[in-house]
Amino acid sequence: MILHGDMKHEIGRRSPLIYGHFIEHFHRQIYGGIYDPGSPLSDEDGFRTDVMDALKKIRIPILRWPGGCFVSSYHWKDAVGSERAPFFDKAWRVEDPNSFGTDEYIKLCRKLNCQPYICTNAGTGTAEEMSDWVEYCNLENEGKYARWRIKNGFSSPHKVKYWSIGNENYGFWEIGAKDSREWGRLVKESAKMIKHVDPTTELSAAALTDLDWNIRLLTEAGDFLDWISIHQYWDPINQTNDYADYEQSMAYTYRIGHSIEKVRGLLTAMGLEKKIKIAFDEWNLRGWYHPNVHTIQQGITKEEYLYPRDKNDDNTRYTMADAVFTACFLNELNRNCDIVGMANYAPAVNTRGCIFTHPQGIVLRTTYHVFDLYTNYMGDVILNTWAEDMPAMEVESKGHQKISLPALDILAAKWSDRPGISIAAVNKDPKNSQPLSLKISGTGGRGKQFYISGSSTESYNDIHHEEVKILEKDLGMISDKIPIILPPHSVNVIQITNE
Ligand code: AHR
Repeated sequence: MILHGDMKHEIGRRSPLIYGHFIEHFHRQIYGGIYDPGSPLSDEDGFRTDVMDALKKIRIPILRWPGGCFVSSYHWKDAVGSERAPFFDKAWRVEDPNSFGTDEYIKLCRKLNCQPYICTNAGTGTAEEMSDWVEYCNLENEGKYARWRIKNGFSSPHKVKYWSIGNENYGFWEIGAKDSREWGRLVKESAKMIKHVDPTTELSAAALTDLDWNIRLLTEAGDFLDWISIHQYWDPINQTNDYADYEQSMAYTYRIGHSIEKVRGLLTAMGLEKKIKIAFDEWNLRGWYHPNVHTIQQGITKEEYLYPRDKNDDNTRYTMADAVFTACFLNELNRNCDIVGMANYAPAVNTRGCIFTHPQGIVLRTTYHVFDLYTNYMGDVILNTWAEDMPAMEVESKGHQKISLPALDILAAKWSDRPGISIAAVNKDPKNSQPLSLKISGTGGRGKQFYISGSSTESYNDIHHEEVKILEKDLGMISDKIPIILPPHSVNVIQITNE
């Protein structure tokens, strides 16, 4: 394939927040994951230092918390200060000790040097409870909640800029679900109170690609919103844990940006595309495995709804399929940098996350290395390029339909603070290497290829088993006559600098 372009033809500058993550009170993400006060690997505040180092290495820009479905019956006031009582989390049907609350979360964000992004309870919560939370976090010393924070040992405000009203409140599974009319009204009233407490906040609200939901939401509350939240898990295996194999996972890359396109279209039709950006604030190839939890069926035992969650943490299942898919979606987020301002990989730690914790250390799953490649090796100014002779591949989707796909997904970016060009080149082809030639005006120099591919599509990382890591290759002087070879099932970043 030949990639054509010109260093002068920019799409725009992508926001660093598109490489964000999410952490929910679900299974071992927080307790026994990033927050483990009993572990010798934890610091004085109970945070696992190995996990924090790994997240800092991929420059985590923003961390969404506390849910997810969890938040829709969560009351933040029960989890600050010295008097905390465990509560029964009605979303995930387990007891939460409430020992990790707002102040612990903010401490964690400070240590990670990332932005906090709090998702509020719009299920059983009220507009007032949400705005009290903003008061607690952001007001200097006015009001009883700001004073409560000071009493709890935090004299300076937490300065939380990003807030989202609700999580998936459209879904039957969500505690306190709403219809589209109720939603627009609740968001408007909540946003009004939040902005009255702190007008510098940026607000999002739970949405999806449904026209009725979004039109009502934006008509009612569009004036108050800066963001609109959407989620997607392509492989819907919450009930079955029946993973799409490599080929089926590649089929999910067909029109991977479809949800973005739909929301972009609506925002544009409503004249809001310059005011409201998309926060793709939960995404992952695989839906989390939590069978039998969102059900009214009686007699369900913990063996049926709780213990199966351990299966999310089978490291052998996070292979090059996950890595290649993840890279394709990151390319799509970058290409849509004018409308997507934030995204949060769901989750950061354990479950389907890119980091797995165990008592003696961590495993960096294949997807971790994709974030490493994009956050540490790619530029931030996205270029407009086009492909000649794109190879095709035929795959069978999970629904057993044959789909023809481009075998490569290529994104070019330059840096805003230094010369040179970086190319994220994903080769989805499971068997064949693919040659890539570059004809981009204004570039030249020595090339380096940083890549992950593993020895097979099934390569994975586990405890004492590291098959996938970033490899490096010197390409010498780059010329359009000598193609760069992209290994099968690989994610590559090619850097060309004038050094
Ligand atoms: O399956 C986990 C959940 O996915 C999150 O809690 C929710 O927001 C989404 O439906």
